[in-house]
Amino acid sequence: MKHYPVMLPEVLSALGPQEGEVYVDGTFGNGGYSEGFLKAANCKVIGLDRDPNVAPRAGQLSAQYDGRFELIKTPFSKMDEVGLEAVDAVILDIGVSSMQLDQAARGFSFMRSGPLDMRMGDTGPTAADAVKSLSHSDLIRIFQVYGEERRARRAADFIIRAREEGDIVTTEQLADIVEKALGRSGKIHPATRVFQALRIFVNDELGELYRGLCAAEAILKPGGRLIVVTFHSLEDRIVKSFLRRRAGEVVGGSRYAPEVKHEGPEASFAQGKRSVIKPSKAEISENPRSRSAKLRFAIRSDAPVFPSDDGLLPIVVHVSELEGAR
Ligand SMILES: C[S@@+](CC[C@H](N)C(=O)[O-])C[C@H]1O[C@@H](n2cnc3c(N)ncnc32)[C@H](O)[C@@H]1O
Repeated sequence: MKHYPVMLPEVLSALGPQEGEVYVDGTFGNGGYSEGFLKAANCKVIGLDRDPNVAPRAGQLSAQYDGRFELIKTPFSKMDEVGLEAVDAVILDIGVSSMQLDQAARGFSFMRSGPLDMRMGDTGPTAADAVKSLSHSDLIRIFQVYGEERRARRAADFIIRAREEGDIVTTEQLADIVEKALGRSGKIHPATRVFQALRIFVNDELGELYRGLCAAEAILKPGGRLIVVTFHSLEDRIVKSFLRRRAGEVVGGSRYAPEVKHEGPEASFAQGKRSVIKPSKAEISENPRSRSAKLRFAIRSDAPVFPSDDGLLPIVVHVSELEGAR
């Protein structure tokens, strides 16, 4: 399925494209946003993605918009290490693309039979490595925190028992094991949350998001716009806390993100008038995958970047602890 760019009109309205400006599309994907920006003004767009499979689409845009589009293959958390500075906007559309979800060989979906991979990029451990090597308690924490799975322990018990019989290497195997553990009830597949949790873990999605926001803060010029579209509450919580803190507010605590009091540095961002924008009913009916989207945006001030505040991150086990697994 082609990737439908979520909330593009709202993103364009927050961006206000202008001739001569430089935008970083930190999650290039199928280039829906990048193309929207290139069409809207005579601007320059730098697309970033960690998935090498986006290269052909990026090539089309470079050819079509001669000299105005360029792709850099990098995780967006490193956008401040690839020579970008003083840009006019950074736009992030967090998560996986429809193309990634729909390709069985990428292993993201329990609905399609494929290798248990789930990596957006081409480096690091796969979901199969995680399922093989993580301890019982780490599996439980990952399912609880990243999947918000209430029966995390039971899912982990069944996985541990199954892996004693042999490696779990396909999406079907894992979906069957989780279905046996949790049973079928309600509309959603019982493996939904476990798959989400493993995907977030394998791609270090929350760490990437937090470090990506910090990197954007470093490369935006004063007056530059930061626009972020997220798809679930864990992500939105990070963006919301990050922006509130950088706008000079005190961020309240939660179970995984203790209260961080901030008195000191000058606000590095001012938030947009409407703090959160959601997709229209028409968009949701046309593209149901947009239903949980939330857009937040803020304007960079001329204050220096904030000191690090990793306390905002609900990281339970870091994927780097598995690097040796491959
Ligand atoms: C939801 S899609 C973006 C779709 C895009 N806005 C469009 O209109 O086609 C997310 C894309 O971002 C990429 N991505 C996700 N996290 C990333 C990260 N931390 N660094 C670089 N790319 C990332 C994924 O590989 C995927 O291609």
